[in-house]
Order: sequence, then C-alpha cells, then structure tokens
Amino acid sequence: MKTLVIVTHPNMEGSTWNKAWVKALQDQTDYTIHELYKTYPDENIDVAKEQKLMESHDRIIFQYPFYWYSTPPLLKKWFDNVLLYGWAYGPEGKLAGKEIGVAISTYGTKESYSKSGSNRFTLEEMLRPVEALAHFISASYLPHFALNDTSNVTDERVAKSAQDYVQHLKTVKPGVLV
Ligand SMILES: Cc1cc2nc3c(=O)[nH]c(=O)nc-3n(C[C@H](O)[C@H](O)[C@H](O)COP(=O)(O)O)c2cc1C
Repeated sequence: MKTLVIVTHPNMEGSTWNKAWVKALQDQTDYTIHELYKTYPDENIDVAKEQKLMESHDRIIFQYPFYWYSTPPLLKKWFDNVLLYGWAYGPEGKLAGKEIGVAISTYGTKESYSKSGSNRFTLEEMLRPVEALAHFISASYLPHFALNDTSNVTDERVAKSAQDYVQHLKTVKPGVLV
C-alpha cells in the first residue's frame, strides 16, 4: 500500500503538531510526504503533476490544521483544480478504489466537538464534505485521525500524538461510519 500524505499548513514554521507529524512520518519508509505550501509558494498548482502523484498511490491522506471548520485555502484550491471531470470522476474516473483519509489538528477540545459542546457538531460531522468527496469519486473513506486541544502543548503530548498518528496510518481501514 503506497500512501501519499498531502500536508497543507500555511505556517509550517510556526506549527507544533503538524510539524511533529511530518517529522514522524519522515522517519518511516512507506509514505510520500507532499507539502502543498512548500511546493507551491505562489499557489500555482501543477495539475498534471498532482494527478500523476495521486495515480501512483493507493491511499491519500489529507493532513491539515482545522481552519474555520474547513481546510486551509490552498487545499480547497487543490480540490477545485485537481479533481476534474474525466479524471477524478465520470466514466474514466481514475480514483475509483483508492482510499482517502484526513488527519487534523484542532484548537477545540474533544468535548467541544459534540452536540452539547461549544463547536456544536462532532468532527465526523464536520468532515462530511471530505467523506462526500471520497464517495463522489468512488474512493473509500477512512476513519479520521485527530489531535484536539492544540494549545495544550507538552513534549509528552506532542511525542504521543506523533506515535499515535503513525500507528493510526499503519492500522486504519475503511470502516462503517456513523
Ligand atoms: C485562521 C484560523 C482558523 C482556525 N479555525 C479553527 C477552527 O475552526 N476550529 C479549531 O478547532 N481550531 C481552529 N484554528 C486553530 C488551528 O486549528 C490550530 O492552531 C492548529 O491546528 C494547530 O496546529 P499546528 O501546531 O500544526 O499549527 C484556527 C486557526 C487559524 C489560524
């Protein structure tokens, strides 16, 4: 299983969690790490190159910090530019059968992402657009990986989240989603 991890963070220099996750994956052999803001500082996406990259991997993980309950803007642009009719979907859809997942960091606590919490909805609910996208292109959607409460930074928490992320990617399978 070849896994492509598409990392989209507008400020990787200032990142704690996403930076630690990238570092942990770099120590593994099975992952292609592709940082969009690093590759495209001018945000000019090479669509053909991105499509080739997707075609040569079985699993694609979108890793990003949660931004206004959504993705950082370059990832939205990437979806819009790369996932084209006739390639991503339609009769000749090239992504059918691939696996798609999300790894996300959120300032909000786990409790805040619940019906009675300050963010009102669960992360499963808020990630429905990516789940729907996967469904639309006939890919399987994987249970997501999340680290909540990002302002609670300790060396132990950061190290554990990186370990948990690596473990998640080793074991996650398309599942029954609620
Ligand atoms: C523009 C912006 C929007 C954000 N929106 C959310 C949000 O909707 N929900 C949330 O829990 N955190 C939100 N955050 C907090 C980030 O998700 C958090 O800072 C990030 O996950 C930390 O990860 P890092 O250490 O890799 O940068 C936002 C941060 C910024 C800068």
